[in-house]
Amino acid sequence: MDLRTTYMGLELKHPIVASASPLSEKLDNIKRMEDAGAAAVVMFSLFEEQIKKENAAIEHLMESGTNSFAESLSYFPEYEDYDSGPEEYLDLLRRASEAVDIPVIGSLNGTTRGGWVETARMMQEAGANGIELNVYFIPADLELSGRDVEQRYLDVLTAVKGSVSIPVAMKLNPFFSATGHMAKQLDEAGADALVLFNRFYQPDFDLDRLEVVPNLDLSTPHEIRVPLLWIAVLYGRIQASLAATRGVYSAAEAVKYLMAGADAVMTTSAMLKHGIGFLTTLVDGLQAWMAEKGYKSVEQMRGAMSRQHCTDPSAFERANYIKILDSYEPER
Ligand SMILES: Cc1cc2nc3c(=O)[nH]c(=O)nc-3n(C[C@H](O)[C@H](O)[C@H](O)COP(=O)(O)O)c2cc1C
Repeated sequence: MDLRTTYMGLELKHPIVASASPLSEKLDNIKRMEDAGAAAVVMFSLFEEQIKKENAAIEHLMESGTNSFAESLSYFPEYEDYDSGPEEYLDLLRRASEAVDIPVIGSLNGTTRGGWVETARMMQEAGANGIELNVYFIPADLELSGRDVEQRYLDVLTAVKGSVSIPVAMKLNPFFSATGHMAKQLDEAGADALVLFNRFYQPDFDLDRLEVVPNLDLSTPHEIRVPLLWIAVLYGRIQASLAATRGVYSAAEAVKYLMAGADAVMTTSAMLKHGIGFLTTLVDGLQAWMAEKGYKSVEQMRGAMSRQHCTDPSAFERANYIKILDSYEPER
């Protein structure tokens, strides 16, 4: 059985990849992911704010005597969860890429172009096989138009692509008015892969303390539906590879994503819940399903249920929504 796949130009032994999570903060965990069968590992993100903060500190040391330092640092949000700065990140990345044989993908998380994107080149020099770029941007400024927001994604991608020769994947959220067109523009701007979809950690309200509280819930298997839809719609229509990230709790979700057209299927929440060994369960489950259904290769499965190959493409569109509402029987 041939499980091989090509993802963002990287040859992977199978499509199951460990996505960005705090587990990759430890070298030992990265080695365990390889032992458990991960085809590649995406490291946790290094944030633009971390890089800028460190750069500001360095600049201050070089221009000591100015008293603007404390003030300028206060512009940066306090990220208490940051366990490491860029140096530590690059050092871990270097050690990880030396320690494992599978591709290690560095993750950058930012929203503007500027000097910080140079860190992508440093990731490449540290041995990263690719960069995953996560533009986690909430357009709360009411003056920003959809086009402005799209341009921001394109600018950050172009800046990162310009500083590295390794492949660059773009991790997106689904909240564009024309997600397909955004995907097409990123594809044309040179994205080697699209990772669908980032989850926004929507804040909640604490009604006792009347405070806005951040929350970081693990996903559920139901959350595969939005990425599944867009992977099925995009399959075969753009050059960039497609990775699915969201809601993979069993081989069934991985199979669905592959049938929709994914080149790689990623997991974080279920791995955090069940442990790194969950990767083995996924790979074994995928093989078992393929054997049972008579598939000889992942290539043969990929996109078999995409919009392009579906006998009824309207299944992905408005017509099916109307059909479903029509047939819905409320429980009495
Ligand atoms: C605790 C936690 C930490 C995460 N950290 C990152 C991160 O540093 N960078 C990133 O791009 N995504 C991060 N993610 C998102 C995951 O990589 C993944 O895309 C998302 O959780 C959806 O996949 P899942 O349903 O398998 O969890 C994190 C998710 C969780 C739950």
